[in-house]
Amino acid sequence: MNGFPPILAEINDLSKDQINWLLYSAKRFKLGVVPVGKYQISDSHQPIIATSFLENSTRTKHSFVIAIQKLGAMYVDFNTETSSLKKGESLEETLLTLRHQGVDLCIIRTSVSHQFDEFKAAPPIRIINGGDGINQHPTQALLDLMTFMDDGSKVSGGTVGIIGDCVHSRVAHSLMELLPQFGCKIILAGPEECLPKKLDSRLDSSMFHLTNDTKEAILKSDFLYLLRIQKERHSGPATYYDGYLQKHGVSLARLEHMLSGGEISKIPFVYHPGPANVGVELDHALMKSRYYRAHAQVTNSVYMRMAIIKAMLANLGEKDE
Ligand code: NCD
Repeated sequence: MNGFPPILAEINDLSKDQINWLLYSAKRFKLGVVPVGKYQISDSHQPIIATSFLENSTRTKHSFVIAIQKLGAMYVDFNTETSSLKKGESLEETLLTLRHQGVDLCIIRTSVSHQFDEFKAAPPIRIINGGDGINQHPTQALLDLMTFMDDGSKVSGGTVGIIGDCVHSRVAHSLMELLPQFGCKIILAGPEECLPKKLDSRLDSSMFHLTNDTKEAILKSDFLYLLRIQKERHSGPATYYDGYLQKHGVSLARLEHMLSGGEISKIPFVYHPGPANVGVELDHALMKSRYYRAHAQVTNSVYMRMAIIKAMLANLGEKDE
């Protein structure tokens, strides 16, 4: 499938057909239908792909690096600390420099929300957003959707409870654009400070419900998605942090208690983009239980990012399908 955008900044940059294509393509990588290795993307050109992480990362950066290498592309880690960005060069000029050195695609993480908007009219290079401030993290949401579907979690006609610091979560913002397209309702739960004051007007409000009551979210959801309290993105102290686990977090004991009391018919799968803060949004027992699916998300992250990279480079060569 062709026609993927040169810049993937947010979920809405993709059509539903393109999202379905990515789910299909990622699954083929996962099942081993498509061989990994050199010239996966083009017979005549080995692509060069750079990562530029201007913010910390464990999962996202490394899964992109593994995806790049499995696709047989050449990988460059653009080290921002030692680059001319530190001498005051603009990001646009930096990206143009990379392009003229032959780099085909750059995966960027930045603390600046909407950083890529200014590039959309005239893209300096192909870009995948690896997380921009509190705005969006589209590749995380896509790999999450893949994992929900693989697990048989009820997406179409179901409800996910996203619990935690929704307002500062770029992952939540991408899921909010993505999941309703697949018929999944979203409950946003957390203390008042963690919930949006109002929903983006582009969202279908009938697909959303907001609550401060974690128990209500658990009762009404088919599966759960926990978020870290992202203190580094707060303008002031998180006054609700003490006692968070008891009030707003999810522990295995809490879920088992609800199950034995007949309030829920089964313990739901629990997802998390990581990194998790044990003792805050969840407890150790839940993290070690079979209901916790974060490692499945990490596994799928490589396949989904392979699919995304391949799709965004499709117009480079012959391997478009
Ligand atoms: C998230 C991120 O960086 O936005 N993590 C991730 O990419 N896997 C979530 C977070 O930082 O809490």
